[in-house]
Amino acid sequence: MIRITEIAQKQVAEILREGDQAVDATAGNGRDTLFLARLVGSSGRVYAFDIQQEALDETAALLDHHNMSERVDLIHAGHETMAAYVEGPVTAVMFNLGYRPGGDRSIVTRPESTLRGLAAAIQLLKPGGLATLVLYPGHAEGEKEKSALLEYCSGFDGSAFGVVHSRLLNRGKAPPELLIVKKFGQYPQFLTGQ
Ligand SMILES: C[S@@+](CC[C@H](N)C(=O)[O-])C[C@H]1O[C@@H](n2cnc3c(N)ncnc32)[C@H](O)[C@@H]1O
Repeated sequence: MIRITEIAQKQVAEILREGDQAVDATAGNGRDTLFLARLVGSSGRVYAFDIQQEALDETAALLDHHNMSERVDLIHAGHETMAAYVEGPVTAVMFNLGYRPGGDRSIVTRPESTLRGLAAAIQLLKPGGLATLVLYPGHAEGEKEKSALLEYCSGFDGSAFGVVHSRLLNRGKAPPELLIVKKFGQYPQFLTGQ
């Protein structure tokens, strides 16, 4: 089966290197945090955010089990406050929206904070870096969040960012979707005047 979360990870794996910095904007059960920690190696750094202590505890246990705790900062705060904790530049920022699998389904990401989190993320990205967002339009708040993100990202300057929107066509009514925002390496010459 093709999983949209795996497609997001593959995109990140193509560019994230040992010694880099990366952000997991929604730690949840820690799977993306562990994935990022493996890629950045012992000389890199991962910053993982979640508003639920339970999620950070799950993530901490997973990292500990894989001996990766030292390379990760677990931050009990919303990703909309990212700029206060991360200096950057970062190579990748991963958002996996919605609720924590196995957790309280009433605690979900919200459109307003997600947009602010993405705005912070794209500031921190290094040229060539990317943000991935896995969207879940199958629940009411997720549908609103998806619409808000699509509108927001459609307005990005096309000479500075590339935005891709993908979805599985043959899996239920409202399958998960993926947004990838890539910050271009260089502005075209006509914009910089060089
Ligand atoms: C789908 S889960 C993440 C799954 C995780 N990436 C994994 O691989 O296990 C979404 C998480 O986002 C968290 N969340 C909700 N609002 C948030 C916010 N403003 N900032 C950071 N995390 C938030 C929830 O508490 C939940 O744990």
